[in-house]
Amino acid sequence: MPALRNDAPAFLQRMARQYGDVVYLPTAGQQVYFFSHPDAVRDVLVTQQHKFKKSRMLERARVLLGDGLLTSEGALHLRQRRLVQPAFHRDRLAGYAATMVQRAQAACERWQPGQTIDMSQEMMHLTMDLVSRTLFSAEVEAEADEIADALNGVFGLFDMILLPFSEYLEKLPLPAMRRFHAARARLDATIYRLIAEHRARGVDQGDLLSMLLLAQDEDTTGMSDTQVRDEVLTLFLAGHETTANALTWAWYLLSQNPQAAARMHAEVDQAGALSMDSLPALPYTGAVFSEALRLFPPAWAIGRRALEDVEISGCAVPKGCVVLLSPYVTHRDPRWFAEAESFQPERWLTPDDSRPKSAYFPFGGGARVCIGERFAGAEGVLLLATIARRWSFALLPGHPVERKAQITLRPKFGMKMTISARKKYVY
Ligand code: HEM
Repeated sequence: MPALRNDAPAFLQRMARQYGDVVYLPTAGQQVYFFSHPDAVRDVLVTQQHKFKKSRMLERARVLLGDGLLTSEGALHLRQRRLVQPAFHRDRLAGYAATMVQRAQAACERWQPGQTIDMSQEMMHLTMDLVSRTLFSAEVEAEADEIADALNGVFGLFDMILLPFSEYLEKLPLPAMRRFHAARARLDATIYRLIAEHRARGVDQGDLLSMLLLAQDEDTTGMSDTQVRDEVLTLFLAGHETTANALTWAWYLLSQNPQAAARMHAEVDQAGALSMDSLPALPYTGAVFSEALRLFPPAWAIGRRALEDVEISGCAVPKGCVVLLSPYVTHRDPRWFAEAESFQPERWLTPDDSRPKSAYFPFGGGARVCIGERFAGAEGVLLLATIARRWSFALLPGHPVERKAQITLRPKFGMKMTISARKKYVY
């Protein structure tokens, strides 16, 4: 347990190396089967996905997220997925992409040559800013700040809700719990106000919230305010920290691999005005983002609970047991990736047909695959490209870089980096 708590991804990697593709972990109160072979990944996420539900961590997340996409199950999940999907349609992404470029430019304006920043915090602010603008068209700085502030209040305390036995802690009048409930009430008030304003305007503002309010299926009149609130919070939570971490690790990897950074800089300098249409002109930048997601997948573990007895890769998993998959471990397996521990964006430039498809699954797979995959892909590439035109980053000498695996895979001590100006670029 201490090893698992200390550095869970490294612990799981050691277990897989030592014991193979199936590892049985009888941890406190839970029987966990950890699978690392791509065939098992496909079985759990795709072919036999109906035999599983989400694991305890996501069940606990319902305290905050209600019945949003990430936490709902069965028929409700299917219906919500159908209703939310159009908000991520290709046509809508072009609008979001313009906001991504514009906000990344605004972040670039704030930095000074020689300044030291915590890249992790900068990327968190930027992705939070982006998600509030793409969700709510929050044009006014004060409004974006108000949303970000209310969200930070809740997310800062959210890890506590996921602790073992937190269902009991929650019932006690502990100061931290009281703070969590107060922060959640404040956040709800903000979100319900924005929903009411959007409903009153009654027009499509081109943002995600408009899409959620317009969404209807054959047999209903659309989502209730509570359902919209749950989806909005889910998109906030699922959509900002994941991308921020992926980008932070990408900047770190670039700082350690100057040749890759030089190749990316050369590409972004040539790409012209940046928009959704620029993505085909940025293959190497895309490869940098994919490779960062391979080495540091923000969703480093994906858990499920068996609803019935099930056989995965020849191993019998009894009903009620937990099945664990880890993109972190499978992505670093030398059977699927040559020189698996090293950063080589080039590997994504030519398709490798010999590699099983499920050997790479930073966005999960099957019916519960990340709904924001294309959004995140565009965001990753456009933010890297916009920022790399203007600045380059070096890790502050002596800054310790370690993983901290909570819900997402973060740098434990942040990521202190020093900024240098590249040429003056006119956007
Ligand atoms: C690099 C960034 C991202 C990564 C690595 C990532 C990863 C994932 C993964 C692995 C899952 C599946 C979890 C499971 O099966 O238990 C997931 C689900 C989800 N993600 Fe993402 N995500 C990212 C960005 C986003 C963004 C930008 C959004 C929205 C704006 C988003 C919204 C969601 C939602 C709503 C789900 C639940 C989908 C469902 O169950 O139907 N994600 N994500």
